[in-house]
Amino acid sequence: EQIEKGGYDHFMLKEIYEQPDAIRDTFRGRMLVDQGLIKMAGIDDHIDKFLNAKRIIIVACGTSWHAGLVAEYVFEELARIPVEVEYASEFRYRNPVIDKEDVLIAISQSGETADTMAAIKLAKESGAFVFGVCNVVGSSISRETHAGAYTHAGPEIGVASTKAFTTQITVLTLIALQLAKKKGKISTSDFHTYLNELETIPEKVAEALTSNEHIEKVAEIYKDAKNCLYLGRGFNFPVALEGALKLKEISYIHAEGYPAAEMKHGPIALIDEQMPVVVIATKKGHYEKVVSNIQEIKSRSGKIIGIVTEGDVDVRNLADHVIEVPETIEFMTPLLTTIPLQLLSYHIAVKLGKNVDQPRNLAKSVTVE
Ligand code: AGP
Repeated sequence: EQIEKGGYDHFMLKEIYEQPDAIRDTFRGRMLVDQGLIKMAGIDDHIDKFLNAKRIIIVACGTSWHAGLVAEYVFEELARIPVEVEYASEFRYRNPVIDKEDVLIAISQSGETADTMAAIKLAKESGAFVFGVCNVVGSSISRETHAGAYTHAGPEIGVASTKAFTTQITVLTLIALQLAKKKGKISTSDFHTYLNELETIPEKVAEALTSNEHIEKVAEIYKDAKNCLYLGRGFNFPVALEGALKLKEISYIHAEGYPAAEMKHGPIALIDEQMPVVVIATKKGHYEKVVSNIQEIKSRSGKIIGIVTEGDVDVRNLADHVIEVPETIEFMTPLLTTIPLQLLSYHIAVKLGKNVDQPRNLAKSVTVE
């Protein structure tokens, strides 16, 4: 096992650090930047299904569901196709309306999650086209779907999903870009700009990882917190949910993710000097609005950990701590803002002496209801 961990203390840390390469592997053979092309057989061979789709329904569980939520924002922004994201466990039992012109995308790292599998069967019975985004090659979901795209993240051993999440977002972003182009929703020049920027993401993830030591110090300060809030807006709202899930599952600290603007509809009542609030406040994405949310937290003595764009000044002046990520195009920011949240939960869990790779009560893949 020590050899498999490749010198890291835990699989989770190894997998966090594998993300630059994992994302490159997800691009490989699909993103042909020089030619200004995306090639994805699973999409290209069934392009009419996607172009004629009245809507896309995304089903998944846990972290994969969070990747689906990011995809909803990206698909609608770029390809202008209506998207609904559903917990597979709810979808399968709520007698959903499924049209045969709907496309269902099932996202699953393991490809074995029982609820996601059941949702796929239901959609197939209704005549919808079903597309899988899986990591494990040859898994049940990859076989049950009509077509799909693998994430190629490599084996993920840590129960807390890390590189699966970022590579799911990567695949889904490629799909969104391909559909946007085929539907004529983005210009050729924007398409090229996006491909060029996407190509830099692995380096930028590597740069985000260089904050590890700083994040470990922040973890030391907050490791004894009983509760923690995570806030984000737009593309980074699902990242807030994912950050909270990561902290919950490996450190057993109660954490909630919220869209930052929802704070005033309830969670703001929780804020006092005992409450750490992790706020994703990158430039562009509603930055000024998030800064005013931060001011509201500060005036209630909450402790602010800001995830900011390199060189940020405004949030730095307000926050107790900032963790920088490189600048990128707004819809790609989740690929970077996720990194410090993974590291923060990892270090807190290690400092609390928790079993990071095998948290209590959790299984890597949930093959039963
Ligand atoms: C993530 O850290 C969790 N371990 C869990 O939420 C997981 O994402 C969920 O069970 C879905 O698994 P899947 O992607 O293999 O379907």
